[in-house]
Parts: sequence; C-alpha cells; structure tokens
Amino acid sequence: MAHRLNGVSCKTLLVAAVVGCAMAPAAFAQPAGQAAADPAAVVEARQTQMKRLKDVMKTVTGYVKDGAGTPADVKAAALVASDVASKVPNLYPKGTQVGVGKSETLPAAWEQWDKFLAANKAMGEAGVKLAAAADTGNKDAIAGAFKGLGASCGACHDNFRQKK
Ligand code: HEC
Repeated sequence: MAHRLNGVSCKTLLVAAVVGCAMAPAAFAQPAGQAAADPAAVVEARQTQMKRLKDVMKTVTGYVKDGAGTPADVKAAALVASDVASKVPNLYPKGTQVGVGKSETLPAAWEQWDKFLAANKAMGEAGVKLAAAADTGNKDAIAGAFKGLGASCGACHDNFRQKK
C-alpha cells in the first residue's frame, strides 16, 4: 500500500541528498501532524521496511564475520539502510502507536518527534558511511562502519520501540 502521506520523497535523489533530505526535519515533521488514512496498513508498511533492515544486518554480518559475499554486497545493503531512513518519517503518522494494528511504536516517538527523526537521520548517515567503507574494500573499515550502523538501530529501538 505505501500510502503517500505527503509529497516529500528522497527516493529519487542521490544518496548524499538523501542524507541532506533527512536533515530537513521541517519537511518530514509534517506527517506526524496528520492522521493516517489506514493506520493498521501504515504499521504494516513500516514493519516491512524494518524487515529490510534485518536483511541488511544479515548480509553485512555475513561478510564481516563469515567472509560471505563481497564489498559490493555490503554497499548495496548499506544503501538499503539509507533508503529505509528516507522512508521512515512518512511511515510514522500520528495515531499509529502501540495498540493500533500490530504497532510496537511507543507514544514517545511522537512526544519526542525531533529525537526520533534524529535517530533516523543517524541511521541514514551510518548507511552512507558504510557504503563509503565498502567502496574502499577494506574489511576493517567495513567492520568499523558496520558497528555504527548497528548502534543506530539500538539507539532508536531503546527509546521508541516497545520492549518484548
Ligand atoms: C528511527 C528509529 C528506528 C531506527 C533507526 C531503526 N528502527 Fe527498527 N523499529 C523502530 C520502531 C519504532 C519499530 C516498531 C515498528 C512498529 O511495529 O510500529 C521497529 C521495528 C523493527 C523490527 C521489527 C519489524 C516487524 O516485523 O515488526 C525490526 C526487525 C527492526 N526494527 C530492525 C531494525 C534494524 C536492523 C535497524 C538498524 C539497521 C533499525 N531497525 C533501525 C524504529 C527504528
């Protein structure tokens, strides 16, 4: 469904621009002020995006820990993380907190919307850094940048995702 909640999209922009776009909370803060037409569907859509991140972690962990795949695979995965970051702000309209559909998002996400966006921006930037590290082909650089990406997940989940 991926219902569009406003006209802002970073999708067609270059990676660097994606980060720039994520740095413009004013453009993205808008959806939080709007109600979702179909809240349960929005929740599902964002969970689908989060699942892409799970695959990202799997791919890069495979490379770093087991030597599976190539730096090019890491780069592609890293860019998925940045792509997801570009979508996140539009996938969290107000009224989609825990209790709505299968939402696991705490009300804190909207109470601290700027902080939520900042955590998302950090993930987008970590993805760009990981992609750059992948370009060097240096495994240590990749492993270091990957730590940054992993930390960005936890930083947001700790504050805004319901604990299991
Ligand atoms: C800006 C905040 C934020 C960042 C950054 C973030 N997440 Fe999430 N994530 C959430 C929230 C909020 C939920 C709960 C979504 C819901 O169900 O409403 C979630 C849910 C998930 C889920 C469960 C999806 C499902 O099937 O229900 C997975 C897996 C996940 N995140 C992985 C990741 C990984 C891996 C990263 C880092 C690469 C990451 N997330 C980064 C906020 C974030």
